[in-house]
Amino acid sequence: MQPYLIAPSILSADFARLGDDVAKVLSAGADVVHFDVMDNHYVPNLTMGPMVCRALRNYGITAPIDVHLMVEPVDSLVPQFADAGASIITFHPEASRHIDRTLQLIKSHGCQAGLVFNPATPLSYLDYVLDKVDVVLLMSVNPGFGGQKFIPATLDKLAEARRIIDQSGLPIRLEIDGGVNVDNIAEIASAGADMFVAGSAIFNAPDYKHVIQQMHQQLAK
Ligand code: DX5
Ligand code: ZN
Repeated sequence: MQPYLIAPSILSADFARLGDDVAKVLSAGADVVHFDVMDNHYVPNLTMGPMVCRALRNYGITAPIDVHLMVEPVDSLVPQFADAGASIITFHPEASRHIDRTLQLIKSHGCQAGLVFNPATPLSYLDYVLDKVDVVLLMSVNPGFGGQKFIPATLDKLAEARRIIDQSGLPIRLEIDGGVNVDNIAEIASAGADMFVAGSAIFNAPDYKHVIQQMHQQLAK
C-alpha cells in the first residue's frame, strides 16, 4: 500500500474565493486538489472547466490537481486540462467510445490516467487496460452533487478493486469519492482505499486543519 492521500473536492469550496480557499485547505494538510468537472450532460450539474484549473496554477497552487471528468464526450477536454496544469485525469468509461485510446491520450499529455466507476458500473472495464491505469476511482455516491450519503455496497467493491490491483503488482492508486467523512474513513481504508476525496466533510467544517488531522488519526488506527 502507498501512503494515504487526502484529496478535498473543491466542489464544496467557496467559488467566489477559490484560490484562497484551495491554498487554505492545502496549508491545512491536504495532499491533492480534487477538481470535479460536470457538464450538465453526463451528469445533471455544471461546474468548471480548464480555465479554472489554469487560474489555480497561475494563482500559485503547486499541489497535484486531480481532474475528475464527469463529461461526455471526454477526449477533446484532455489536452485542454493537461495544458491547464492537471496532474491526474480520470474519466467514466461509459462516457468514452474508446477507453484504451482515451487512457493513452491522457498519458501522452504527461498526466496520470484513471477510470472512474459509478456505484453500478462493473470493475470488468479494467480487464484489458490495467497496465494503462494509474488510478482506479470508485464512486461511493451517484456522481453530480456533493453532500450525498456514502453507499455501503462500495465497501465490497473496494475490496474487489484492491484484490485486482494487488494481484497486478502495479502501483495503482485506489481512490474513493463520495460521502467520505471522519466517521467512515477508517472502514473505507480497511476495505482497500488509499486516496480519499472529501468535499462537504472538509469545506463545511469550521477548521479544515482539524478535520484533516482527525482523518489522519482515523487512518493511523
Ligand atoms: C460527486 C463528486 C464528488 C463530490 C464529493 O459527483 O465527484 O467529488 O464533490 O463530495 P462529498 O465529499 O460532499 O460527497
Ligand atoms: Zn469527484
